[in-house]
Amino acid sequence: MDPAFRIVPEPTRVPACRPSGRIFENCHKDHPRMPPAQPVSARDLLAFHLEAGVDCALADGPVNRLDDPHHALEAPAKPAAPSPAPAAPPHASPAAPPPPDAAIGSAREMAQRAASLDELRALMEAFDGCALKATASRLVFADGTPGARVMFVGEAPGRDEDIEGLPFVGRSGKLLDRMMAAIGLDRRTAYIANVIPWRPPGNRTPTPQETQICLPFIRRQIELVDPDILVCLGNPATQTLLGTREGIMRTRGRWFDYDTGTRKIRALPSFHPAYLLRSPIYKRLAWQDLCAVRAALDA
Ligand code: URA
Repeated sequence: MDPAFRIVPEPTRVPACRPSGRIFENCHKDHPRMPPAQPVSARDLLAFHLEAGVDCALADGPVNRLDDPHHALEAPAKPAAPSPAPAAPPHASPAAPPPPDAAIGSAREMAQRAASLDELRALMEAFDGCALKATASRLVFADGTPGARVMFVGEAPGRDEDIEGLPFVGRSGKLLDRMMAAIGLDRRTAYIANVIPWRPPGNRTPTPQETQICLPFIRRQIELVDPDILVCLGNPATQTLLGTREGIMRTRGRWFDYDTGTRKIRALPSFHPAYLLRSPIYKRLAWQDLCAVRAALDA
């Protein structure tokens, strides 16, 4: 058992505070039930961070956010010194994203302005309204062939996708490739994208706000690709695009109409490949969904 979780008898003596290479040295002095601190190696610290979901470094050095003038806590008010000039008005950080409503409005306006997929990609590259852009390495726009009859949409890029700039290239992407191959499709005959085009840090779930900000872009992308069949991979993509409230167990395998505003596209929710990797028993049902896609293409 990890010594940190072992129940130890109450210490009889609290050692004096002294400098040492030990992490959390004397933490127990305010918590007499805490065991004495153990030396922690760099490897243990890394393992601790990984377990906590920190799997990537965003910069080469640490950043003290409290030193950031744009995020610093307000200092206590000082008595006003006589000053001839009025204080300069505070100005917004150029890196600070706009408020969510403004970001959604500007995403809508930009998405509607895009007359082609290339234009849409360029506008998304220039869009600063989603904070995920700041932590992602790059935009993950799409893979596959515009004009394909089938479009697959997932939730958001993961680490591998963030590195390569292409959707579904990691482990779940390999499974998606095999799923497509099983019904005679590949990246030349299908188009693949995500609801969110920037990797959320540590692969966390995108917030509803982030999803709403990115929604106009994926909606426009679907409209421009104009597939015959839209496959929503997993619950987040299904609920976001089809407006369903039920879980994927109830929606998968059922055909929906996806309304682009100008046309209705047949849409089928199915399991996300990452879910199938964790729960292979559902591959049987995923296979039924894939056969339904094949049959709809052949009809
Ligand atoms: N999961 C997704 O939803 N999308 C990807 O691109 C990769 C993993």
